Amino acid sequence: MDVIIRKDVKSAVDLAARIMADALRKRPDMTLGLATGRTMEALYAELVKMHREEGLDFSLAKSFNLDEYVGLAPDNVNSYRYYMNHHLFDHVNIDKRNTHLPNGLAKCEAGECERYEQEMRLAGGIDLQLVGIGRTGHIGFNEPLSPLTSRTRSVALTQGTIEQNSPLFTYPDVMPRRAFTMGVGTVLDARSVLLLATGAEKADIIAKAIEGPVTSMISASALQMHQNCTVILDEEAAAKLQLRDFCDWTFANDPKWDAFR
Ligand code: GLP
Repeated sequence: MDVIIRKDVKSAVDLAARIMADALRKRPDMTLGLATGRTMEALYAELVKMHREEGLDFSLAKSFNLDEYVGLAPDNVNSYRYYMNHHLFDHVNIDKRNTHLPNGLAKCEAGECERYEQEMRLAGGIDLQLVGIGRTGHIGFNEPLSPLTSRTRSVALTQGTIEQNSPLFTYPDVMPRRAFTMGVGTVLDARSVLLLATGAEKADIIAKAIEGPVTSMISASALQMHQNCTVILDEEAAAKLQLRDFCDWTFANDPKWDAFR
């Protein structure tokens, strides 16, 4: 795991955007795994800017999102499909037919999850999976006790996640209590993973996920087992890491990061 700490939110977001843009330029037909949440809004704004100002080309790219709320229609303003259209897809030249999220209205939840996994397989798997981290340590909606081998499925959300996300809803009470999510195992299958976390409220859970034991209590800790995972943090989110000096040293000295310093 490479942990890169930037001085503030803007430089953390800029670096994450540059890493994604670099991957897309090298392989324009890549399959992106995408995430939602407040943290990603600035990242998508940066990618939109790169598309407008530098011609960053999404025309051949495919995407699969981590998750979607059970029961929300794609045109519901609180759905993740709406979020993705609003923050990214409507503003870049991606072909929306190549963008995928679980269907929140699917009649058969198990069937929808199997279909989603199959679509990912048919697309050749995820090249670069973007993830955030929830207060409970979730990636996607893999709440505590999610098996580390889990695949896409529908899950119940914890009270902590409901408290974290309900303020984003037009009416907090209407937030669904269940969601479809890629499993921890699905995320670990991606060829590379990029975790972006910013802000002081993430410091505790980030330290546990990165430096603590791998445990299904904190699904983000499973990323320690991934061979190509980069974590980008701002100073505030990194504040509780013990190995911070080593992280800085690695970023400063590993030739892999020459183009990004
Ligand atoms: C939601 C998403 C997660 C995301 C989390 C972080 O719960 N399902 O995939 O990691 O939000 O949210 P924020 O960036 O708002 O802290």
